[in-house]
Amino acid sequence: MKASSRHRRIPTHNSMGWSSNTLNELSELFIHDCNERKGRVLDIGAALGIASLAALEAGAQVVANDTDADHLRQIEAQTRPELLERLEIRQGRFPRQLPLEEAGFDTVHASNIFHFLTGRQLEVGAQSLQHALKPGGKLFAIAATPYMSTFQDFIGPYEVRKAAGELWPGWVENIRSISKHRLLSRLPKSIHLLDDTVLPRVFSAAGFEVERCWLFRRRDLPKSLHLDGRESVGLIARRI
Ligand SMILES: C[S@@+](CC[C@H](N)C(=O)[O-])C[C@H]1O[C@@H](n2cnc3c(N)ncnc32)[C@H](O)[C@@H]1O
Repeated sequence: MKASSRHRRIPTHNSMGWSSNTLNELSELFIHDCNERKGRVLDIGAALGIASLAALEAGAQVVANDTDADHLRQIEAQTRPELLERLEIRQGRFPRQLPLEEAGFDTVHASNIFHFLTGRQLEVGAQSLQHALKPGGKLFAIAATPYMSTFQDFIGPYEVRKAAGELWPGWVENIRSISKHRLLSRLPKSIHLLDDTVLPRVFSAAGFEVERCWLFRRRDLPKSLHLDGRESVGLIARRI
């Protein structure tokens, strides 16, 4: 099978990027954790449910979240009837419109959604997940970095901002001002490109122990976005 057909991207219904039909490397680690714990998990920005459906198959009790009700309905429709009792769909914008019960979750998955949050939303989100995870529970997150061919012209200014100690060097108010790539028409106006300094800082400050944070190229990234192997940032953090 050709790589392009194996990693098919399905546009989200609300122009919030794409939902993948393949688990990325970070999501795979999340599913491994689901297999081990068989616990209760939260999938933030689940889109069409690539990870939520796999987590159900792995024996987890899944709360699938998204801002888009259509996405969540589609996840429900794709769930095998015998697994439906372990699926809860919860619509709402993370973090402020997604109330979470205290110590209600063993694991949280957030794939390609944190780059849609402002710095303040990330901080509030990290506190919300600290509240929602059981002690020892884990967060598996992956987000976009500036190191994509689309954002090449931004890498210089970004590194200057970072060296100057800016708190959120990857915040871009209007992505059209830094790139004209055709794929950007499927994204919102602003984006928060993250890295292996900013993301662990946010979660450490909220009381997480960062187990691993690294830059890599996810296997389902479109070829036209490839740059140098640092296109995504992955984070695995443990709630202390
Ligand atoms: C790029 S898709 C990622 C889909 C999926 N997690 C994956 O990795 O294939 C981002 C999804 O996050 C949702 N989303 C964006 N901002 C959100 C927020 N603040 N709270 C919850 N969902 C959000 C969008 O509706 C969209 O379905």
